[in-house]
Amino acid sequence: MSKITPLFTLLLSISAVVQAVPAPAPQASGPEHHGHHGHHGGHGHGSWPPYSSRPGVPGGKPSSVPLPSATPTVSLLRSTSSAEPNAATFAASAIITASPDASDASNASCTFSGSNGAASASKSKKSCSTIVLSDVAVPSGTTLDLTDLEDGTAVIFEGTTSFGYEEWEGPLVSVSGTGIKVSGASGHVIDGDGSRWWDGKGSNGGTTKPKFFYAHDLTSSTITGLNLKNSPVQVFSVDGSTDLTLDSITIDDSDGDSQGGHNTDAFDVGESTGIIISGATVYNQDDCLAINSGKNITFTGGSCSGGHGLSIGSVGGRDDNTVSDVTISNSKISNSQNGVRIKTVYDATGSVSGVTYKDITLSNITKYGIVIEQDYENGSPTGKPTTGVPITDLTLDGITGDVASDATNIYILCGDGSCSDWTWNEVSVTGGSTSDECKNIPSGASC
Ligand SMILES: *[C@@H]1O[C@H](CO)[C@@H](O)[C@H](O)[C@H]1NC(C)=O
Ligand SMILES: *[C@@H]1O[C@H](CO)[C@@H](O)[C@H](O)[C@H]1NC(C)=O
Ligand SMILES: *[C@@H]1O[C@H](CO)[C@@H](O)[C@H](O)[C@H]1NC(C)=O
Repeated sequence: MSKITPLFTLLLSISAVVQAVPAPAPQASGPEHHGHHGHHGGHGHGSWPPYSSRPGVPGGKPSSVPLPSATPTVSLLRSTSSAEPNAATFAASAIITASPDASDASNASCTFSGSNGAASASKSKKSCSTIVLSDVAVPSGTTLDLTDLEDGTAVIFEGTTSFGYEEWEGPLVSVSGTGIKVSGASGHVIDGDGSRWWDGKGSNGGTTKPKFFYAHDLTSSTITGLNLKNSPVQVFSVDGSTDLTLDSITIDDSDGDSQGGHNTDAFDVGESTGIIISGATVYNQDDCLAINSGKNITFTGGSCSGGHGLSIGSVGGRDDNTVSDVTISNSKISNSQNGVRIKTVYDATGSVSGVTYKDITLSNITKYGIVIEQDYENGSPTGKPTTGVPITDLTLDGITGDVASDATNIYILCGDGSCSDWTWNEVSVTGGSTSDECKNIPSGASC
């Protein structure tokens, strides 16, 4: 019950504001909210009634009770229904719809906006069961910090989320917790405005560019329907997460093609279990998916364009170098350097096992339709495969389509005996050349 305390502090302080200014006010909106954080300590001891006895709140279900505004920058609306995510608005601050029997977490819907929205959201996040981020302008060099949320918190992006410019590592957004539900309201965009950093060098040099969205340490959570644009560099980093679904995410970095976008990986996955990425639409300039480590990972129903393909790896040389039980299915890859790609690191150890690519359609692939190689070092192929990261139990089933005429259909470069138990069915990649540099091709596959 100790988590009740901040809520009561909040309620008490709000009631002080309410009593001080009796005139009703319209709902505040827009980004111009300043300086109001969740806790107005020292405002006295107004008595906000308990929910069960508050007039107009029978049984704890709030009715519409517009509350007065202390200043033009603050307003507070009661919830009219639980289906209204935007139930309460309190400027760039937290408040409030609560249920009488919320046992160990508050049940407040809080809306944050403007240039103080990110700081206020971070400060008040523990008091809010729903966090609405409405036209939040995140200041330069800071993270929209939604880490360590209370169990079951919903986060809703609304309007345009923007970020100030600074050369730094980021991330611009970070969310963690258990049972977290992140979603986007219709018409929203999370706009990295990456062109301010783009210099064609990505994370290999030039300006230091912030990573976009950390989905780290999320458990039994969902990220649904987000619309992200123009990432400075890598977009989603999924790390240390378990049972996380990322559904219907759109990433449009197409401006990066002509303006120097580079290493704009859409989904980088590491040290995670039970990850589902479904229905993604990606336009970028690097891997659509890159799995460096993890288990039980599914990518399905995706559409990838402009990038480097659906990749496992590079695997090796990190803390965790095991990839297992991965299914990549029902997806199309177009206008990309590669289609299906697995790369492991030269002289490293680890393993890649139980990977299935099924029903993948390729079009206009400009380097390799399918590429599997065990020779990567410092991000580049060496041409010398080693055997320390075996690739076993690999299924390719229904990989079809065309590569560009100067591309290679299939390239396999394995160490001696380090690729085995491969099952290939209905693999038909055409339009480019047949490689004569493949090595140690296991039975079941061919170049
Ligand atoms: C939170 O409040 C909403 C609206 O009053 C209600 O429908 C919902 O059941 C509450 N949730 C919890 C966990 O109390
Ligand atoms: C794989 O992950 C999914 C999604 O989290 C989960 O529902 C499923 O039970 C997991 N399967 C195994 C074998 O762990
Ligand atoms: C093929 O893809 C490349 C790389 O994205 C692109 O530059 C080119 O315009 C595409 N060609 C066609 C015919 O679509």
